[in-house]
Amino acid sequence: MRFYEDPQKTSENRLPQRSYYIPENPGAYISLNGTWRFRFFERDMDLTEEIDRWDRIDVPSCWQARGYEEPNYTNVNFPFPADPPYVPDDNPCGVYEREFQLTNPQNKTYFVFEGVASVGVLYINGRYVGFTSGNHLQSEFDITDFVTEGTNTVRVVVHKWACTSYLEDQDFFRFNGIFRDVYLLSRPKDHIGDIDITTDENRIRVRFGGKAHITLLDGDRVLSQGDFAGEAVFTVENPKLWNAERPCLYTLRFCCGGEVITQKVGFRTIGISARQEFLINGTPVKLQGVNHHDTHPTNGWTMTDAEILQDLRLMKALNINCIRTSHYPPTPKFLEYCDEMGFYVVLETDLESHGFSRRFGSGESHPGYDMESTDWPGRRPEWAKEHLERMVRAVERDKNHPSIVMWSNGNECGHGENHKAMLRWAKERDKTRPVHSENACRKAWQSGHPEYRSETYDSDVHSRMYLSVDACRAYCQDPANDQPLFLCEYAHAMGNGPGDVYDYWELADQYPNFIGGCIWEWADHTVMEDGVAKYGGDWPSELTHDGNFCCDGMVFPDRSFKAGTYEIKAAYQPIRAELAEGTLRIRNRYAFTNLRDHELTLELVRDGAVLAQTSLHLDLDPGKTGEMALPWELPEICSLGCCVNVRLKDPSGAELAFSQVALPVPVQKAERALQPLLLTETDKEIFAQGEGFSYVFSKRYGTLVSMKIRGREQLAAPVRLSAFRAPTDNERKVRGYWIKESSAPTENIDKTFCKTYSCRVEGNAVVTEGSLAGVSVQPYLRYTQWITVGADGTLDIQVEAAVNPRSFWLQRFGYSIRLCDPDAPFTYYGMGPGETYADLHHYAGYGLWQSRASAEYVPYIKPQEHGNHIGVRYLSFEDFAVVADAPFECNVSQYSPHTLWHTRHAAELTKDGVTHLRIDYKNSGIGSGSCGPELMPQYRLAEKDIRFRFQIQLK
Ligand code: GAL
Ligand code: MG
Repeated sequence: MRFYEDPQKTSENRLPQRSYYIPENPGAYISLNGTWRFRFFERDMDLTEEIDRWDRIDVPSCWQARGYEEPNYTNVNFPFPADPPYVPDDNPCGVYEREFQLTNPQNKTYFVFEGVASVGVLYINGRYVGFTSGNHLQSEFDITDFVTEGTNTVRVVVHKWACTSYLEDQDFFRFNGIFRDVYLLSRPKDHIGDIDITTDENRIRVRFGGKAHITLLDGDRVLSQGDFAGEAVFTVENPKLWNAERPCLYTLRFCCGGEVITQKVGFRTIGISARQEFLINGTPVKLQGVNHHDTHPTNGWTMTDAEILQDLRLMKALNINCIRTSHYPPTPKFLEYCDEMGFYVVLETDLESHGFSRRFGSGESHPGYDMESTDWPGRRPEWAKEHLERMVRAVERDKNHPSIVMWSNGNECGHGENHKAMLRWAKERDKTRPVHSENACRKAWQSGHPEYRSETYDSDVHSRMYLSVDACRAYCQDPANDQPLFLCEYAHAMGNGPGDVYDYWELADQYPNFIGGCIWEWADHTVMEDGVAKYGGDWPSELTHDGNFCCDGMVFPDRSFKAGTYEIKAAYQPIRAELAEGTLRIRNRYAFTNLRDHELTLELVRDGAVLAQTSLHLDLDPGKTGEMALPWELPEICSLGCCVNVRLKDPSGAELAFSQVALPVPVQKAERALQPLLLTETDKEIFAQGEGFSYVFSKRYGTLVSMKIRGREQLAAPVRLSAFRAPTDNERKVRGYWIKESSAPTENIDKTFCKTYSCRVEGNAVVTEGSLAGVSVQPYLRYTQWITVGADGTLDIQVEAAVNPRSFWLQRFGYSIRLCDPDAPFTYYGMGPGETYADLHHYAGYGLWQSRASAEYVPYIKPQEHGNHIGVRYLSFEDFAVVADAPFECNVSQYSPHTLWHTRHAAELTKDGVTHLRIDYKNSGIGSGSCGPELMPQYRLAEKDIRFRFQIQLK
């Protein structure tokens, strides 16, 4: 057994965890970040004491992000055999070495790792100091007896795997190295130790090791000070309370033997009401959350403070108020920012042992983690200490942060004795915060053992992942449920999506016991190499991988936004607006903030043009709904649509909310009555000709094959009915119904044969009967189509389709048209300007938008369907316009759905020199079924009888 294979001894000489702080007096903090000597060994058995040749590496960093070993992305599966506590004999390792200068060796000197993966063995001046494990947890060593004045040498040997790797099986790229800050602290001999700060209504209680002069400040103003030993209590009359909307902080300054340490303090209480609301300072709040992993396109797990701050700023701008630190503690700086900026943090310790559910080669999978097995660490006594220590190290490091509102004992690790002990300890240690355990709740509800139900109470909230909206509603309505419902993960944001987020929040706003949830997840994880954003499967050395399942963020790897990002912002936005009998109702969704300092702007919009605008400040208390009459006479009629845009800006001028309410103004008919036109025909073709146009229909194909307007050919290919779109990541679980992915029967709609049974002229109409069918299977749809041509060149297109009753619901249905223009500009009235879908449009609005094919592109990491617009009444290209009285959907792209589907990376997409135009009856919604529930029925194209009509009018 190697030393790192003993779960009972996962560190040596590491100091007990204390609260995090860095003394501010000059000389106290000696950063060891920077360039180190580095040597990588494929096997740690090749490691020799004398290293003859060194490379250089920047620290902190992950060695896979610096060219040592290829990256490996694996989700559930362990990247090595499941044979705990053993790891492969060939265990790679990295050796780090550098010098540092010390001027004050009479002080105590400490060595601190903020994160080293997986095992860090520390040597100072050639002498062994100790070792540590626990990737994302802090480790501190007392190296006073190892250092001398002047130049010292530190060596750290980092082993890639250890028995602890079985507890660090999070769904992410597996990185290694000294990946977070590393530094020394030079401290006076009698320095203070741990600091433990708690508050109640108006008192701050501090417990600390040693003696100090402590000053309590409000900003720069000293409120109180004195000399204390071990304990201090400060009373603040009517303290300003901390909450995420107004994060008021006080400062405690400790001075001792020349050392200065400051800690921020927030007054806030956390509770759960009798109605199972989540209370902050006695007020119910909803947790509008997101899961945050550390991820960077070129640095892996290493993020700078500036990058972390940037993530948090973006979250704030997106109305996020809660973060679950999935699935490990973040760098301490992250929490300092959360205190200052205002976030409710669910602090999860570094624990996931998901791979045990996949350890049987027979293919058996255990959603309940197979907790009865004796080889499962969650219940084995020799693993108890390692589990508990992970909870202790997280809580003791971070306990002073007002932003932390719950402790979480890990993710996807099951719920055995060792996990229970973690929760028991946390509850006992910190009586001010609830504990969170999705695993306790999962075991109770999904294991099929009713006797486990009581274990749901090991967690203070009923935490679940990926419940459907219906399941959430059922939970909320059942009076037997006596815990708040919290979705630690929901709305899997993979690729184009998530859809249906808004529906969750309609429900959460309705039920007090639905306290919110966290989007899975913040940012896509990719590794940028040669301009390509790569994911699992892109490196030959990966022995197991999970493809692009790591690209599931609500923002792209570079933190740029997509439609799903804005949709989440809209669901989380602080107001809701609706029109009821001519009165505008605004609901203030804040828990603590009156809207009077925010600017509310109303715009009266007709046919996409703003006719009038007014701004006001609403004196509206949190949770209240205000009513106001619209300040305008409504137009009597419009040609496309009429609505009110409602915008809310915070006092800094940032737009936090946008909502559009439709106005009941009649819309003029857009479809024209046609004047007859004489069609001519040959055996094979039908011709329609008039001033400025000439059209050709193929009788064999029953469709338009040439469309010349003012002499210009529009069509690069025959017009086709179709039902295929490049599958979205969110169709991962259902796309097999449409596309052949295995030998199972499937509709094969990507290989549709358009069959024409008959095509004939009736008056000035071309009438076609036909079917759409995938290879090997019955038609999934049969239709009759009438294309009537008017004397002015108008094409009136009607189709009646019957979908095979045995077929699965359709991705979409409509016309696919290839236009000759390689990048066609267009104008449309519909929902935009970003892409919109049946369940992903609350962020967008009706408008008269201008775009072109290339501008509609969205660079999803794995190319997929994108760029749709719903609610379209008018779509105009250079020579013609598509209009309809009933709204349709459209999509204009430079890429064919087949190209999108068959291309692995955005950077590899190829154009084919035409514009792909879709005029759709309907396009199914997006949902979040890549991991979440099935697309909600109301967003599927599931009807079996379809009638669709629109006109193409010449301009
Ligand atoms: C959850 C898990 C996350 C992530 C997600 C899928 O079950 O907790 O860590 O794997 O699924 O993206
Ligand atoms: Mg997992």
